[in-house]
Amino acid sequence: MDNPIAQNSEQTYIVDFEPPEKERLRLNIQHDAVVRNYGHLLPPAIPDHGNLTDVADVATGTGIWLTQLAEHLPATATLHGFDITDRLFPDQSTLPQNVSFSLLNVLEPIPESLCEKYDIVHIRGLCFVLKANEWAGVVKNVTRMIKPSGYIVWTDTNPGSAQAIPPTKFASQGAALMDYMCKLRGGDPFCCSSLPTHIKNNGFTIIPPPAECSGEYTPSPPPAGSEFYIEIPGRDFNPSTVEAFSNNYVKALCSVASFMAKNNVPNEWFTPETVSGFVEEFIKETGEGGSRVFFDLICVVGRKCE
Ligand SMILES: C[S@@+](CC[C@H](N)C(=O)[O-])C[C@H]1O[C@@H](n2cnc3c(N)ncnc32)[C@H](O)[C@@H]1O
Repeated sequence: MDNPIAQNSEQTYIVDFEPPEKERLRLNIQHDAVVRNYGHLLPPAIPDHGNLTDVADVATGTGIWLTQLAEHLPATATLHGFDITDRLFPDQSTLPQNVSFSLLNVLEPIPESLCEKYDIVHIRGLCFVLKANEWAGVVKNVTRMIKPSGYIVWTDTNPGSAQAIPPTKFASQGAALMDYMCKLRGGDPFCCSSLPTHIKNNGFTIIPPPAECSGEYTPSPPPAGSEFYIEIPGRDFNPSTVEAFSNNYVKALCSVASFMAKNNVPNEWFTPETVSGFVEEFIKETGEGGSRVFFDLICVVGRKCE
């Protein structure tokens, strides 16, 4: 099949065609929903947050996770965000002195100056970025940034878990776009399944789920033996986050549909001529009182050997 997406090797991330203001808003709304589902910014299983000296957020996007975390850590802690592009970075003049942002491509070897520098490396949202064969190398690269006994905290989703509840026709077809595009770009729609193995292969011990969560919402623990610290299926989302999360995701999926039509991506649901009708029906079915569109939230936490 003609595959314009796989041919475009410059394309690192399938929704980065959006204007920065729109993408910034989408990521920040999603961040808020994730944190309110997890009940925390940093896993309570990581002890002594007050003693952390160096924290990194890789593929930081707008840097919202890092800048919010800075408010909870002592001013002596250094917080550093990295991304392949600075298009969504916050204005440095608005930031506290201990928070900064730099360019970094996680697909390339990590510079010597960053090796074993961080107590914690946090990563979130690379499932639509990485190709199936890139996960092992990326975990290996970020491992080098972490101090002995430090932590990796990785939140992501399986694009294949996207679903509409209840599953109406256009809502389900819209939800299926991420899985389809993930596969088309050479991604793994169930990438989270192998994440704990990649992390263990780099000398980490997997941290089990907490006995109980603090915060406004307590998700059910992941199934025994899954090696996820958190796993929240769409149907179990914190009810107060459902509306915002779904509306935000629907907007992203509409953008993906437009992108596909503009780039003549072959698919079974619409053509460039019929895409606006498809988007209209999708929005109608996912509007107030309609289907909700979700993906599962997964977090893996590992502690590096001493
Ligand atoms: C879905 S966004 C997640 C942003 C942020 N972590 C969050 O959860 O709000 C994916 C981010 O990965 C970044 N990215 C894509 N390819 C990358 C690479 N090779 N190295 C570093 N960052 C990359 C994108 O620029 C984008 O900011």
